[in-house]
Amino acid sequence: MNNVGETAKRAFTEAYGTEPAGLWAAPGRVNLIGEHTDYNDGFVLPFALPQRTVAAAGPAPDGRWSVCSTLAPEPVSFGVTEPGEVSGWGAYVAGIVWALQDAGFEVPPARIAIASDVPLGSGLSSSAALESAVLTALIDLGGLEVPTDRRPAIAQRAENVYVGAPTGILDQSASIRCLAGRALFLDCRSYQVEQIPFDLAAEGLAILVINSNAPHQHVDGEYGERRKSCEAAAAALGVPALRDVSTAELTQALERLDDDVLRRRARHIVTENQRVLDTVSLLRSGRVREIGPLLTASHASMRDDFEITVDQVDVAVQASLEAGAYGARMTGGGFGGCVLALIDADRADATAAAVADAYRQRDFTAPTSWVATAGPGAARI
Ligand code: GLA
Repeated sequence: MNNVGETAKRAFTEAYGTEPAGLWAAPGRVNLIGEHTDYNDGFVLPFALPQRTVAAAGPAPDGRWSVCSTLAPEPVSFGVTEPGEVSGWGAYVAGIVWALQDAGFEVPPARIAIASDVPLGSGLSSSAALESAVLTALIDLGGLEVPTDRRPAIAQRAENVYVGAPTGILDQSASIRCLAGRALFLDCRSYQVEQIPFDLAAEGLAILVINSNAPHQHVDGEYGERRKSCEAAAAALGVPALRDVSTAELTQALERLDDDVLRRRARHIVTENQRVLDTVSLLRSGRVREIGPLLTASHASMRDDFEITVDQVDVAVQASLEAGAYGARMTGGGFGGCVLALIDADRADATAAAVADAYRQRDFTAPTSWVATAGPGAARI
């Protein structure tokens, strides 16, 4: 058990005056490549962070659901609800109860306490970690038979319908289905996965995660707008999703779109899907360093075509590359959040210092950097 587990257990005992029945942990994620491709039925390649959200949970004698956290020690309590009835952070928990019930499962009433070391609001999927920890706890407490490959879609429904955020299935899949030492190659149409060996240390390499600490602005509206543009482009091209356009067909497809914004959004998705496939091929054959240019090309596409980067992340990518990184890109939904850089393992401090220096020169809030390894997915601990 790690410290976060201890903290969740203590929060449970303080709030409810009894011991939890168990502890369930679910990680945040870094998406190695494949951004905004998930809701286009495309490909993604995340790995799970060692940082996790832990749900300490036990049965509830009052037949309701109660949840508290180290940040909100006073429990929120609810019975059976419909989407929208619980708001604030409790909506993620009430949403999981609702989505499980809506999928036909009898959800056990439960008392839950949450602790987490996943950085909040940094594009590392703190919400999916919360949803996945609670989902896993409720499934185990109730002895429910929910196959692992069905779980992400249940958590995604909680977020889409109950919380009201139009996200894809990347984050919940990563938090639930990732394995330690592997990157998760996910087909977001079929939900098929391949666990790709991802042991960078064995190659003398590392992924440096740089939190830009840039304030998130207009995130929700911009995200929904990108999604609508992609759907509009697919409709104009007469395909179910942009996944169905290959790079070989791209030039012709773009000629058929008369709106420049739609053209650029579509070009990002089609080329990004191909970059995921190319990254997977290189990793399968152990040519890890060679994925660098694909990561950097992904960033340029997010910056120029999808227009979801901000100065802080562009500067972090540029400074990492100038410090010798093989490749670097923003990871996550965008408009701030984190950058990842593929570096030689002994260059972590130098790269972090180079980014911090570039931030100082521009009077940006200082970044926070650390080396990320691929941790396990959601489980009882
Ligand atoms: C957010 C969403 C995901 C995905 C990414 C971008 O993290 O929750 O579904 O769309 O942005 O790749």
